[in-house]
Amino acid sequence: MKKERNISMTKPLVSTKNSPGLIPYHFFYWGPLLFRIKLSKEDLKKCTKLCSKESSVVNDTLAGVIKHQHYISPLDLYKIIEPYLKSFRQAHQQWYGKPLLKTIITETAWVNFMKAGEFNPPHIHDNCDFSSVLFVKVPEKLKEENKKFSGTGKGPGSIAFTYGEAQPYSICSKNFFPVVGDLFIFPATLTHFVSPFMCKEERVSISANFRLD
Ligand SMILES: [Fe+2]
Repeated sequence: MKKERNISMTKPLVSTKNSPGLIPYHFFYWGPLLFRIKLSKEDLKKCTKLCSKESSVVNDTLAGVIKHQHYISPLDLYKIIEPYLKSFRQAHQQWYGKPLLKTIITETAWVNFMKAGEFNPPHIHDNCDFSSVLFVKVPEKLKEENKKFSGTGKGPGSIAFTYGEAQPYSICSKNFFPVVGDLFIFPATLTHFVSPFMCKEERVSISANFRLD
């Protein structure tokens, strides 16, 4: 019989020494690794400079109903985010219980200039291992619009990651209103989508696809 891989068993026993009478226990993480890290202001500035509507459009391979999606240099992006990938490797080790020994290659990168009425439907990314999104610009008007939202989820301009089926006592989605400088990295086949908004300013993000080699 195949030995079960040691996923999630690396989490230490939860200590209950400050809770007399409570017996120590384990609980187990599973599912996709959703990693978030904050870029420094300097690095964010460098990333912002990569964003241009002058470069070629990438729309034909993307799911987004977004007019301005333009390629940026994967190498230029990689040079900026490389230090953050060290933390990603550590997170990978903790989440999956095994080191990420392969090289992380940035295959493609592009910028999304998203405006009122545009959206990204639920989708995954093909032909790569991990993907990322970095929030470059979140206009004040969008923040105001989002604050007025009173429904479920995170509302206009938010990003959602979904996994598995919705059922009681399970967490099957994580939703975030974008914060400038936040970089998310996630398995490329993790379904995600971005809700539309109505304000007349642009929400800007950089996406990238990574291959492990
Ligand atoms: Fe995407």
